[in-house]
Amino acid sequence: MTVLGIESTAHTCSIGIVGDRAEVLALAGDMYRPPKGGIHPREAANHHVELLPDLVERAMRDANISPKEIDGISFAQGPGLGPCLRAGATVARALALAWDRPLVPVNHCVSHIEIARALSGLDDPMLLYASGGNTQVIAYGRGRYRVLGETIDVGIGNFLDKLWIALGGTFPGGPQIEAEAKKGSELHPLPYSVHGMDVAFSGLLTASLALADRGIARADLAYSVETTAYAMLTEITERALAHRQMRHVVLGGGVACNERLRGMVRAMVEERGGTMFAPPRHLCVDNGAMIAWTGELARLSGLAVPIAASAVDPRQRTDQVLAPWRENGGASTTRTAVN
Ligand code: ATP
Ligand code: FE2
Repeated sequence: MTVLGIESTAHTCSIGIVGDRAEVLALAGDMYRPPKGGIHPREAANHHVELLPDLVERAMRDANISPKEIDGISFAQGPGLGPCLRAGATVARALALAWDRPLVPVNHCVSHIEIARALSGLDDPMLLYASGGNTQVIAYGRGRYRVLGETIDVGIGNFLDKLWIALGGTFPGGPQIEAEAKKGSELHPLPYSVHGMDVAFSGLLTASLALADRGIARADLAYSVETTAYAMLTEITERALAHRQMRHVVLGGGVACNERLRGMVRAMVEERGGTMFAPPRHLCVDNGAMIAWTGELARLSGLAVPIAASAVDPRQRTDQVLAPWRENGGASTTRTAVN
């Protein structure tokens, strides 16, 4: 089984070709980086429209396969920026028509989860999905992924990006804050905003900027921001584990690249006798392979659609879509743990 997946929800356009058991046969992508400030949806979409045809060719060449060997075309239906989503969906529809293959829309958030779960070898872990626009603690239950806790304002990645840009830096801020934080050591108190299993970041953003105005060292600011924000995520993940009587955690989304977050969640999970898994970094950030793999699961569950029913949905939530491939426990869809 081989599926080609198209990711284009926001800053990244990427083509993945994935075979059985989430084996990545090819991955070709590019990130739109605004010269300054945040992402302008139309400019990001123009970037994707320009690059996607070449990326398809490159991925097919790298995988060394012909269109006849592709079993389906999947694309991220939502959530995301409307113009960016439409760029990827249009290419997906064109390929499905030209190659006469099933067209499979998938949810971007569920795709972050499924690639991480497949690589983890864990059948039913708790999921901490920490990315640009989303921050959710998720567990599977009765036919779909359930959001047990989430951010009530911005996603953690957007918070980090906004902070870094306000301090004069460039997008994406998360990795640059991580590099700064590694040089810091002094912990300045910042608002710690946990509400049950939800979190909020806007107070933390305001207070971090106020701290910067006081002239504290950039490295200590980054260290304090990471310590506070990642402790909040670790706490809500632990609460969800306790309530659900679960032990294992899988991380997904771009912020799951962060070593500090990985370390804090790992320490908490191991203390509780569980296992923590995070995918390799190129599969944490947005990528076409996660869309292809989830497309494969969805296609085998009969979720291909006609072109007329393939509209994008910029606000589609994790818990809005069905995950019928999980109904039998999901054992056949995972492979042996790689770390
Ligand atoms: P979503 O999945 O919510 O739609 P997204 O698609 O915008 O979000 P991803 O590619 O999943 O984004 O994640 C991008 C985010 O990850 C950015 O906000 C970026 O700053 C953050 N990020 C990437 N690497 C790191 C890192 N090492 N530490 C912290 N944050 C990081
Ligand atoms: Fe994402």
